Amino acid sequence: MPRKILLAPSILSADFAKMAVELKAVEDSGADWIHVDVMDGHFVPNLTFGPPLIKAFRKHSRLPFDVHLMIENPERWLEAYRDAGADRITFHIEACRHAHRYLSAVREMGLASGITLNPQTPLCSIENVLEECDQVLLMSVNPGFGGQKFIEPLIDKIRQLRIMIDSHGLKTLIQVDGGIGLQNAQRISAAGADILVMGSAFFAAEDKSALVREVHSL
Ligand code: DX5
Ligand code: ZN
Repeated sequence: MPRKILLAPSILSADFAKMAVELKAVEDSGADWIHVDVMDGHFVPNLTFGPPLIKAFRKHSRLPFDVHLMIENPERWLEAYRDAGADRITFHIEACRHAHRYLSAVREMGLASGITLNPQTPLCSIENVLEECDQVLLMSVNPGFGGQKFIEPLIDKIRQLRIMIDSHGLKTLIQVDGGIGLQNAQRISAAGADILVMGSAFFAAEDKSALVREVHSL
């Protein structure tokens, strides 16, 4: 059975002053999810959106909101992001001590749960929490900014994660985030990714629908 590759455009690369228009463009393109990059200025050296802004964005899109928390102590904020309209919440293994407990908490809220790893973090750090994860997000750049270059050894990490998930008999989705465009999407999906996050490449594309069609056909 061929897997369908999903595309989650990151609104980090959208024009923040025209977010309603940008959200509509994502929806009109046929993309699957809205990827929302939350940064706290501590876990990563940048600041973006918090719950009030996400709540405002929520009114302008019907697509699932895939909220990527790049924040310290994510457990303190899970309910606030749920209330703001998140459908899926992913937080970093490097940012919390009790990932298993918080992944379960996200599921108990009725949301999809995700764990994410910075490029240097080994896969063994999440093996024991995998069954609580609806998705694993592999960072393929150092988090904090859009428009960076894909870190090449991540291709092998995606392959290893695919083997790990399959060998546990799980349905956990693999999401890859950072430095992705049509030039490398094929290799990333062939390595085992299910969802591609695309920020700068998506918003720079003149024909966004064609881009989405290409990703869906991978
Ligand atoms: C980086 C963010 C990414 C970013 C990807 O910290 O997590 O989602 O928006 O942007 P591109 O696709 O431009 O690398
Ligand atoms: Zn992200």
